Amino acid sequence: MPDTRIELLRYDATGVIAAYGEEFRQRLAGIAPALDAARREVVDEAAAWSRRDPVPPLKVPLDAGFIDLPDRLLADYNGPNRSESELYRIIAAARRLAESVDRVVVLGIGGSYMGARALFEACCHPYWNELSRANRHGCPRLYFEGNNLDNDAAQGLLDLLVRGAGTTGDDAAGRRWGIVVISKSGGTLETAIAFRTFLAALEQSGGDVPSLVIPVTDLAWDDKKNDHKSLLYRLTKDLGCRDTFEVPDGVGGRFSVFTAVGLLPAALLGLDVVKLLEGAAAMNRHFREAPAQDNVVLQYVGVGHLAETRHGATIRALATWGKSLEAAGLWYDQLLSESLGKNGRGATPLTVVNTRDLHSRGQQHQDGRRDKLITNLIVEGVRQDRLRVEPREGDRDQLNWLAGKTIPEALAAATKGTNLAYNTASRPTADLTLAQTEEASIGQLLQMLMLATVIEGRLIGINPYGQPGVEDYKRNMKSLLH
Ligand code: PA5
Repeated sequence: MPDTRIELLRYDATGVIAAYGEEFRQRLAGIAPALDAARREVVDEAAAWSRRDPVPPLKVPLDAGFIDLPDRLLADYNGPNRSESELYRIIAAARRLAESVDRVVVLGIGGSYMGARALFEACCHPYWNELSRANRHGCPRLYFEGNNLDNDAAQGLLDLLVRGAGTTGDDAAGRRWGIVVISKSGGTLETAIAFRTFLAALEQSGGDVPSLVIPVTDLAWDDKKNDHKSLLYRLTKDLGCRDTFEVPDGVGGRFSVFTAVGLLPAALLGLDVVKLLEGAAAMNRHFREAPAQDNVVLQYVGVGHLAETRHGATIRALATWGKSLEAAGLWYDQLLSESLGKNGRGATPLTVVNTRDLHSRGQQHQDGRRDKLITNLIVEGVRQDRLRVEPREGDRDQLNWLAGKTIPEALAAATKGTNLAYNTASRPTADLTLAQTEEASIGQLLQMLMLATVIEGRLIGINPYGQPGVEDYKRNMKSLLH
């Protein structure tokens, strides 16, 4: 039964067809069978993964576990043994930590933090960390580290957490902090170094470390080493951490936002993780059931693929209108780059925040090289009261002609005006429209983009999972440090 409470996001590629001509529309219809076939393979793969079928030896290993994950988590949570479900455990652990600390540092890099940051920026108050605890509904402030090797940034955060800089007025409770450390492999150097540093600081602060540190990592056993694979798990097991979460087998880093990797930080922020998963599950249903010509995922892939292969649009700009989806754009940059940027192929993603970047990139997008497909990410609703341009006596800045217009009206005019300008210059522009920046919409968006990436991988014969190219820098860095 479709979930009628959830308004599905919409994809409209008429601006791309207008730029490339009717032939494009025909080509798009022409690749529907290939898109359908890719969908069948992906759906079959997800089903085979759920059954834990052995993978045929000649096929590349595919981490299809993320596809059904939202449905599985919800089914367990809504089933008879709710208190044993993963989602229940995540919510309970988040509540426990949120009650005992006022600041949480999320340590992780790449797929191990970008999803959480996307959820944070999309769904929380834009100045969350500056709000009082009451205005944060008793939830902690959230910081991201372990995603770089930046001495001053790490010291700056330690200033806040340990040395109390900038915490005037906070009582002792306000100074308590904890760590969520996320690494699937458990060996990524940036995160491991940060964890050592922040763990030592936490130990010195005298708190109950096992209850203040929550690791999220691979829990698998390594027969050869006769120990757990993840070095992070080995360390946190010795610490006796009270809660530990697994990045499940078959779910890769950048596809892990709907595991504890994204859900635990989201729950710490008081976000409705059930709605988030319901949004993702609604997108799964749409993806499986809607015919290719109405299928948001397949249409998005078809348009991007044809624009790239037929018209040289190798750059995919995701233009978010408003600020709250910038981190979601950066999450997608990583998803697309690491998944399809292989064997000399793969489009280059670019996150754009408008109207801000109209004043930095707009010239090039209007007039520069014809190598870009622009997808507007438009949010229909706003979460706060609409600000209006007020009339002003004297009208010295000559703005009274706008009096009464709201900021959302001005943004809509900028979006429409930009589309018109791009359209006149035959710049291909599509619209992806969300009802709101809240959990159900964001859940759909993230699942849609993950599915699209996997489908496109199928279409161009690239395994979207794994990132073998990243290993080279890691090897070099380690040998230089020895
Ligand atoms: O998508 C990926 O797999 C990567 O971006 C990883 O998330 C990133 O390299 C971090 O890896 P790990 O979670 O093993 O520390």
